[in-house]
Amino acid sequence: MPTSPTPVDQKPNVLLTRRRLVEMAGVTLVGTAIYATHAIAADGSQRPPRFPAVPMGTVRPENIAGVGIGTLTGGTRPVYVTLPDSRDPVEHSVADTLFWAEQLMEHAMFIAMMMPGPELARPRTQAERFQREFGAHLARLRRSRLDRSNYGRFNRATIGLTRSLIDYKQRMAVEQSSGRMRSLVWPTFFDHTRHEAERFVRRLTQLNAGNTVYSRGEVVPFWSNIMGEHAQFISQLLDPEEQALILAARETTETFRRIASDRGPRRGGFDPVMVAVNDIIDFKTAAERGIQEGRIKSIIHPALADHVRREAVRFRDELQRTA
Ligand SMILES: [Fe+2]
Ligand SMILES: [Fe+2]
Repeated sequence: MPTSPTPVDQKPNVLLTRRRLVEMAGVTLVGTAIYATHAIAADGSQRPPRFPAVPMGTVRPENIAGVGIGTLTGGTRPVYVTLPDSRDPVEHSVADTLFWAEQLMEHAMFIAMMMPGPELARPRTQAERFQREFGAHLARLRRSRLDRSNYGRFNRATIGLTRSLIDYKQRMAVEQSSGRMRSLVWPTFFDHTRHEAERFVRRLTQLNAGNTVYSRGEVVPFWSNIMGEHAQFISQLLDPEEQALILAARETTETFRRIASDRGPRRGGFDPVMVAVNDIIDFKTAAERGIQEGRIKSIIHPALADHVRREAVRFRDELQRTA
């Protein structure tokens, strides 16, 4: 993937055609199928090739906490899901907790990383404590044997821990917004990660009522907002010279905003949301590899790149299961 600047790079608003973007990044822009405003280049050329496609793959069975669940691979770390067609709230609880507790543990890690210096020692120590607590909770889950008689109690403990982190993110967002705290964490990042934690609490509460159903009316707007915000974060964390990828990320934000607002209705047998989700998985996977191999200039930590990729894979898995 070429990264050296060219005359075209320096005049993005004048000369950056879609075809040129593809040549520069070696990849396509995302979300082009239905929602993107510029699916066809200004010169009328065809839709460009995509990022290298990442196949969905099959769910690899695993047994954790005495329960059969599965993983999906494709990046640095696996994505925990239930086995296809599972309707068991215990299996869903274990898979969701393995997935989300790891995400929440990483939120705390990212927040701590973005609180440098002695003046931020106190909130950083709190973030590091959450990171340890979620790590310990995951270890506890792996040592447990969950079934219908005790999964509700375990979920309530998870909810309690998650609520503490939600409170912390809420307080930190206010501190940062007000200017009382000067960390490197955007208020939007606190809010984004809080929304994910709140959604996890709603999900565990639903599972404790024995209901495992994913509804399209909940899954699509929730994850589309999250995907749009990821793209915003990526666009702001790329090196300012990475114009092609910055524009790709901005277009992705717009794509998912449109999906979130109209909920991406299916058109016959065709699901435009699934197309956009597959595109963003391909985009994030390519970005993760480019960042790891030093081909993309950014201040995106490789762990953050894989974190947002896993959330996109989760979106795809949940979308497939929607009623
Ligand atoms: Fe997250
Ligand atoms: Fe996220």
